[in-house]
Amino acid sequence: MTINRAHALRLGVNIDHVATIRNARGGGFPDPVRAAKLAEGAGADGITAHLREDRRHISDGDLDRLMDELVVPLNLEIAATDEMLEIALRHKPHAACLVPEKREERTTEGGLDAIGGHNHLKPYVDELTAAGIRVSLFIEPDPAQLDAAVALGAPVVELHTGAYCDARQVERRDHLARIVAAADHAERVGLECHAGHGLTFDTVTPVAAIPSIVELNIGHFLVGEAIFGGLESAIKRMRALMDQARAETGGAKSA
Ligand code: PXP
Repeated sequence: MTINRAHALRLGVNIDHVATIRNARGGGFPDPVRAAKLAEGAGADGITAHLREDRRHISDGDLDRLMDELVVPLNLEIAATDEMLEIALRHKPHAACLVPEKREERTTEGGLDAIGGHNHLKPYVDELTAAGIRVSLFIEPDPAQLDAAVALGAPVVELHTGAYCDARQVERRDHLARIVAAADHAERVGLECHAGHGLTFDTVTPVAAIPSIVELNIGHFLVGEAIFGGLESAIKRMRALMDQARAETGGAKSA
């Protein structure tokens, strides 16, 4: 079942780092599925989770429970591997976001190479799509990568906002300009455009104001803020900042 909250800009809450805290000690708490259910209640339009090859975030058991218990759509982040394809086809989440994955990285550093990786990625995009799973590609805000996503037949791209978020104030403007240009390009070439990685209360507004972006996926910062004021309050504040940014630009594009 899908909840349509009719937000012009959807918020996907990434619960991976609730699992990271649990995994630091083993055992069962904090429970990422409980966090996902709380996020649903607090205004998340979807839940995002990354089943990594090394299972350092959510586990296979968490995925089973997310599929059973969520009311909002699940966006499952996976690497383009046969193991992950088999798991996605078995669970059939609403969406699968293909991400690059390196065992030694601390987080997803940089986007997929949809140009050089065309031949590798194509069968994964095709099989997921044939199973009715909406495929998105996590890519850098680069028009050539967007064109490559079109060539792959992916209906959605998620623009990596990490460089924008990590940049110092002066350079941030250039990174934002790249995101704006890429989102415009996505609209021109018929791709649904999402964005995410590293977004915080301080960096979300300019990205949320881009009318052709219809979904933001945010996790690490929200889980961190939850320590200080609770997860519900962090999600509500993020939701309010997104809505305010979108209202101010008059971008009432429906997702
Ligand atoms: N989108 C994608 C594709 C991701 O891989 C991640 C997490 O790595 C996020 C969004 C959320 O990033 P963050 O946890 O930094 O908010």
